[in-house]
This record gives sequence, C-alpha cells and structure tokens, in this order.
Amino acid sequence: MGPVTPSLEVAGLAFAYPDGHQALFGVDFSISRGERVALLGPNGAGKTTLVLHLNGIHSGGVGTVRVAGLPVGKKHMAEIRRKVGIVFQDPDDQLFMPTVREDVAFGPAAAGLKGPELEERVDRALQQVGMAEFKNRPPHHLSFGQRRRVAVATVLAMEPEILVLDEPSSNLDPASRRELADILRSLDVTVLMVTHDLPYALELCPRSLILSEGTIVADGKTAELLSDDELMRAHRLELPFGYDPRSAAAALGGP
Ligand SMILES: Nc1ncnc2c1ncn2[C@@H]1O[C@H](COP(=O)(O)OP(=O)(O)OP(=O)(O)O)[C@@H](O)[C@H]1O
Ligand SMILES: [Mg+2]
Repeated sequence: MGPVTPSLEVAGLAFAYPDGHQALFGVDFSISRGERVALLGPNGAGKTTLVLHLNGIHSGGVGTVRVAGLPVGKKHMAEIRRKVGIVFQDPDDQLFMPTVREDVAFGPAAAGLKGPELEERVDRALQQVGMAEFKNRPPHHLSFGQRRRVAVATVLAMEPEILVLDEPSSNLDPASRRELADILRSLDVTVLMVTHDLPYALELCPRSLILSEGTIVADGKTAELLSDDELMRAHRLELPFGYDPRSAAAALGGP
C-alpha cells in the first residue's frame, strides 16, 4: 500500500437492521489521508448507522469498508479498532473508569502499551484537549463539555488513522465549541465529522457529504453545498437564521 491509499474507502455499502428496516442503500465514498470531511443529513438519514460500520460495530450488510487499505471485518478487527477512533455523541457511552487517567489509558493499555510509554501517551492526549489537570478526577464529576473533551482524548490516545466524531459540538458552550474546533484543526489526522451544526462543518471541513434516506446525494465543497438552496431544502438541511454561507466562506478565506 503506497502513500496514496485513502484513509477510508466505502464501496457499495448497504445495510438493513434485523427488523428489516433498510438504513443504507449502496453508499460509496473515499476520504484521503489528512482530509476533514463533514457528514451531513437529516434525522434518520443513516449517519450513525454508517459510522458504526467504520469499525465493525455493525456488519453483515453488502459492500466493503476499508481503513488505510485494510478491509473492516473479523480478520483485522483489533487493528481496525486501533485505527478508527470513534467519538460517540454521548460521552457517557465512552467513559466508564473511576478516573480520567484510566479511561484515557484503557485503549492504549489494551493495545499493549505500558509503563512510561503509556503515561506519556495519556499525558499527550489530555494535553491536546486541554484536560491535563483533570487526570485524577472521576469522569462523572466533570461537566458535559469536559467529558466530551476526555472522550476525544480516549480516542486520540490510540493515535488513530481516522477520527470519527458523531455530533461533536452538541451541548457545548460557544467557547468549548470553538476550542474543540481549534483542537481538531491542530491535529494531523483524517477526520469524518457527523454534524447538524452546518456553520461548524463549514468552519472545519472543506468537503462535505450529504446522506439522505441512506444514500449519498452530494459530495463536494462544503461552501458550495451549503449555498445550494434547492439541495439544502430537498434534504431538510437548514442554516441558522441570518447565516450566509457565502460570506462566512469568504471570511474563512474563500470556498
Ligand atoms: N436498531 C435499529 N433497528 C431498526 N432500525 C433502526 C435501528 N437504529 C436505527 N434504525 C433506523 O435506521 C435509520 C437510520 O438511523 P440512524 O440512527 O443511522 O440515523 P441518523 O442519520 O444518525 O439520524 P440522527 O441525525 O437523528 O442521529 C432510521 O430510520 C432509524 O429509524
Ligand atoms: Mg445519529
């Protein structure tokens, strides 16, 4: 596999839940190393279903998912789980240890790190999210925004090939939302970010995918997609009142 191998390749992915409800209908896209891509779409579009295929939590449908060239499946599951860092929408689904340190150390320790190497990894991840001084606190005593940051740190500590975030800005105050954006921008990692926060998508992700009724209906520059009123309306995507994606894109340095 050469340097041109994409971080993520999804091909012909279709999936129905056991109750027969089909959530994905042949999804295709590819994300190059280092790209930051937003996954947009209305409630029920299949975004979370798609995310849960990226590290094999969901499987058994049709099609393939490859991470850095490696097919997601039973054979490579441990390696896939190391390469794909998923930050779930609810940090309480991710934090379950008595201290922040133990939560952040959990993945790397399971992957075989120990001693000073493990501590360095934990410290670095906590520093990246500005939570170093919370190392010995119980996660359940932290605020929601602080728990979200620790959840991001648990994933960064694995040094993933691709960071997948499901609604990272939800329930964050404006300062925390901006700080998380600064963190994500500072990382040298491929990012796929599910979000209903369209200005956040524009700010962070040059490219967006729109998933609607289990199909990718658009894949292009975020500023162009958000400026396409017809496309937006057809897929129940609404910008905040008074928000103009064109001037926002210009303020960010052009589309
Ligand atoms: N466990 C399940 N069993 C059956 N159907 C499900 C299950 N989970 C989700 N679905 C259905 O699959 C479709 C896609 O759901 P999914 O959670 O992936 O949507 P989403 O795009 O993440 O939505 P949201 O923006 O609300 O988070 C929906 O119609 C949903 O009702
Ligand atoms: Mg969802």
